[in-house]
Amino acid sequence: MIVRRKILGVFFLLFFIYSVVSAQGPEYYKKRRDSLLAKLENAAALVPAAWEKDLETFRQSNNFYYLTGVEQPSLLLLLSPAARSPEILFLPARNLAEGNLSEAWTGAKLGPGAETEKKTGVARAVDRSAFEATFAYLAGKIDRLYFDYDPSPLEGPVSAGEVMLKKLRDRYPHLEILPLSRITDSLRTIKDSVEIATLQKAVDITCRSLEETIRALEPGMYEYEVEALIEYGFHRRGSQRPGFSSIVGSGPNSAILHYNSNRRKIEPGELVLMDVGAELDYYTADITRTVPANGKFSDRQREIYQLVLKAQAAAIEAVRPGVAWKEVLQAARKVIEEAGYGEYFIHSIGHYLGMDVHDVGSSQPLEPGMVITVEPGIYLTEESLGVRIEDDVLVTQDGCRVLSASLPKSVEEIEALMRSD
Ligand code: GLY
Ligand code: MN
Ligand code: MN
Repeated sequence: MIVRRKILGVFFLLFFIYSVVSAQGPEYYKKRRDSLLAKLENAAALVPAAWEKDLETFRQSNNFYYLTGVEQPSLLLLLSPAARSPEILFLPARNLAEGNLSEAWTGAKLGPGAETEKKTGVARAVDRSAFEATFAYLAGKIDRLYFDYDPSPLEGPVSAGEVMLKKLRDRYPHLEILPLSRITDSLRTIKDSVEIATLQKAVDITCRSLEETIRALEPGMYEYEVEALIEYGFHRRGSQRPGFSSIVGSGPNSAILHYNSNRRKIEPGELVLMDVGAELDYYTADITRTVPANGKFSDRQREIYQLVLKAQAAAIEAVRPGVAWKEVLQAARKVIEEAGYGEYFIHSIGHYLGMDVHDVGSSQPLEPGMVITVEPGIYLTEESLGVRIEDDVLVTQDGCRVLSASLPKSVEEIEALMRSD
């Protein structure tokens, strides 16, 4: 009996350890690290995992996850072609002594050693305590370090990453320390087929949850009830979390761009703007639909809605490789300005989408493999009327594909959806 329990214990431990490494095989992440290493030459990249916060659900930092697929705090990844081993993962030692309960609190963790090397595909997985000596040796052979850290908030405590940055600067004054984003941003801007498939799934989850919610929506509900329905739909369909704070703005709140307190009661005759996105496996959707609370647009609401829709269609039409962002914006702006509402379109046309909702990327012309949002809006504060329509769009070889095309969008489609049970 005792032997059987031990075997079972080992089985569960292996299962849980496996669950902190992504579903993609280790080779998938190895290729990404190799692409980064190819750009380093006489430099190194140092990538800390996200820090764990007490009683908060852990989410790995995007760059660490992008390079390893590992969801565990307190790790350091060091990459350098100048090092004896070009890739090293530093991990705290596991304490598996009989009677030690640390992993009973947190679940099983990856530790230093061959098993982690095999599971993650990182060439060397060593004890965290070896970092200082290893880095000091490497620092003598490099002149530049790309370091990934979260800057501290304007107010509030200094971030752990910034503390580490200061130590590195003090100890290695000869090193030019640059943000890792200088290299990883361009890698992350072009999505591969796995990333596109994941984004499509996140988008589909968001579309189906929005559709279900729009059907159930009626005056008298509170904005937070709508938010709860949408986010319940996300979780029920396998999303780990919303990719950003859900925006549900009714009436006057529909005209506030990033309103997200979602506390107001929805009144008959108002518009309800829902700007939401499910995150799936570290990739998030970002979709907006604006609908009439009681299922039928008023004449004025329809007029503004159709105008935003026309502007969005013109912008999507402009999306293809080689086109500049400002041309996409201009296509939408022209439609809205010609109708006399230019001053009420108060933001840009969209942004890159990926691991972050406002994902990394530059103002370069569009390229196949980029995923962007197209989201014009008109905000008439004095009429308590705001309309934004936002879709997620993949740039393809010869144009683009709207990933969120399956979600009703025309006036007729939305009114029909709100009439159905
Ligand atoms: N949901 C935020 C945005 O659309 O940019
Ligand atoms: Mn957006
Ligand atoms: Mn949005």
